[in-house]
Amino acid sequence: MSRRDRDRDREGKRGAGSPVTVTVCRGCCCGTEAKHPGVDHAGQYERLRTAVGSAGRVRAVTCLDVCTQSNVVVVGPSSEGRAAGGRPVWLGFVLMDEMIDDIAAWVRAGGPGLADPPGLLDLQLISVSRRVREGLPE
Ligand code: FES
Repeated sequence: MSRRDRDRDREGKRGAGSPVTVTVCRGCCCGTEAKHPGVDHAGQYERLRTAVGSAGRVRAVTCLDVCTQSNVVVVGPSSEGRAAGGRPVWLGFVLMDEMIDDIAAWVRAGGPGLADPPGLLDLQLISVSRRVREGLPE
């Protein structure tokens, strides 16, 4: 199955009109006091959910397998953003409230494919292997 077929298949499973999806890793490293002491991980998650509101969907998942770059957040395009060429964007080292606010602002602006990442968010972009990318839960 080609990448394009997989994308189309995933799109079909999500259905038309799927929103921007923000996937927040909360595994063995991301979101833990042990790895990132002094960061209010639960507070940041709620801050993100509140700031995104109805503009997108926020979910937490277990380890995404790029722990060295924790905290990891993936911003997936809406169906409209995907049609415009947007693809999931992986962000690493998301530890500061300002980064959370920039992610939420990006979602509200339309997300990947429809708007550029605001502020300094493009400095958080990380590259992951195909194996890791394809392991992102639907
Ligand atoms: S715990 Fe987030 S990448 Fe492993």
